[in-house]
Formats: sequence, structure tokens, C-alpha cells
Amino acid sequence: MTIVHSLERSAEVLKYSKSVIVFAGAGLSAESGLPTFRDQGGLWEGHRVEDVAEPGGFTRDPLLVWRFYAERQTRQLQVQPNAGHFALAQMETHFPDFLLVTQNVDNLSERAGSQKIVKIHGDLMEVWCSLCSWKSRLDMPVVLESLRSVDDIPRCPKCAELVRPGVVWFGEMLPPGTIDVSLSTAAKADVLLIVGTSGLVSGGYGLAETTKASGGTVVEINPAETYLSGIVDICIRSASSVALPKLLALIVS
Ligand code: APR
Repeated sequence: MTIVHSLERSAEVLKYSKSVIVFAGAGLSAESGLPTFRDQGGLWEGHRVEDVAEPGGFTRDPLLVWRFYAERQTRQLQVQPNAGHFALAQMETHFPDFLLVTQNVDNLSERAGSQKIVKIHGDLMEVWCSLCSWKSRLDMPVVLESLRSVDDIPRCPKCAELVRPGVVWFGEMLPPGTIDVSLSTAAKADVLLIVGTSGLVSGGYGLAETTKASGGTVVEINPAETYLSGIVDICIRSASSVALPKLLALIVS
């Protein structure tokens, strides 16, 4: 199916939709200059997952982990949302029932105006106590400047445990309630848009099955084939910063 045809078919379905859910991944922010994880030049090429994205890595070398996430926090503040982020923010105001479920920990969607958003992997602007439920927003690069040793890493004001980046690591539970709200929204969605994710982590399949089981349509926007491509109804093989604005234009026309 040509990209034009898949865009038109998707727009036809979206035009008569009231409830839309989006499941997004790193590809949504790729054209803003933030690396994805598994593509060429991706984050997992330059860093060992077990060092920077597993609890064991933080136990072994918390300074290395702080540096990794402080650099990512700095990087996201140096780039801008792209046309894909802005199109999703506009779709939020167009559909009576809309939810953006993002795996991304960057804040580009919020900076583009998205408000109905669930961040299932945490937030780069947040830090959490590594033991209790305390959490806060923190300018990590500022803290990093004075980080010489583990003793300099901030401690929780409630229980004095080490403070860690506010990001979910492999083997950890997702933030409470995020999966429930995502699945309940997917169950009543007319359309699920899967944007810029390989689908290898965290629930994309479950969301797609849930939306399809209740008669909804699943659309994938990704220049490449993914783990989810086999379950979707329509594939738009295009970059999200190109496809999403085009889809929006077709929907509102
Ligand atoms: N537009 C749309 N999709 C794109 C673009 C683009 N411009 N550029 C790349 N992609 C697609 C790739 O084809 C790939 O399918 O984005 C996807 C990125 O996949 P991953 O790197 O695996 O990222 P993601 O799916 O978000 O990873 C999920 O894994 O590492 C963990 O916690 C991390 O949230 C992350 C999760």
C-alpha cells in the first residue's frame, strides 16, 4: 500500500473517530536530534544497558548513571519539539477523547503543548529516592558540576537514601496506574496510533490487541518494520514528523 493510500485510509477512519490513543517511542523525537535506543547510532550502541538502565548498574556505579542521565537532560533542553510532536498536541484538542502514552522520558511532547499524556518510563526532569516514594524535579547538570564522588550524590530528604534519575529501568515496575489507564483507554479507542517505536518493550502489543478486540483500528507510523507490524491494520512507512502533520491536515480538512 502506498504511503499516500495508507495516510488517506487512516484519515478516513480518524475522521469518524471520537476516541484516539497514541503509543509513542523514541522515533517521535529522533528528528529533533535525540538518538533512539536501537537504531544505528542509538543510545544502546554507546552504553551498556546493564551499566545505565538496570538497578544493578546504579548500585555498582551511581556516578556513571548520574552522568548518563544528566547528559540526556542537557541534550533534551538543547533541542526543540518537531512537527510530529506539534501535530499530536493539535490532535489532542481535535478529538473529544485523546491520550498520548509515551515511552519517551524527554519533555518534547509537553513543550509542544501535549497535556493528556502518560509517561510510562518516567521523566528526565525528575529524580526519585532509590528507596522511598519521595520524588522531585531537579536540574541534574547543575548537580553534576559538583559531583566528585558518590558522597556528593544527593540524598533523599525523607530517608537519606541515594537519589536516582526519575527513569524506569529494565526489570522495574512501571509507575503505578500507568498501564491500567493505558489499557482502559485502549479498550474504548476507535484508533490506536503507534508512533516511532520498535515495540520491543512495555506493552505495545497488549494495547494493540486491546484496541482490536473492541473493534478499533491500529495504525503504525514508522519508516521501518517493527515487532508490532504484524498486528497493525495500516502501516504508514514514513517519518513521524512528515506523516503526523499530513494526517492531521487530512483529518481537519
Ligand atoms: N519517525 C518515526 N519512527 C522512527 C523515526 C522517525 N523519524 N526514526 C526512527 N524511528 C523508529 C525506528 O524505526 C524504530 O522502530 O523508531 C523506533 C525506535 O526504536 P527503539 O530505539 O527500540 O526505541 P523505543 O521503541 O522507544 O524503545 C522502547 O526501550 O530502551 C528502552 O526504555 C527504553 O523507552 C525505551 C524502550
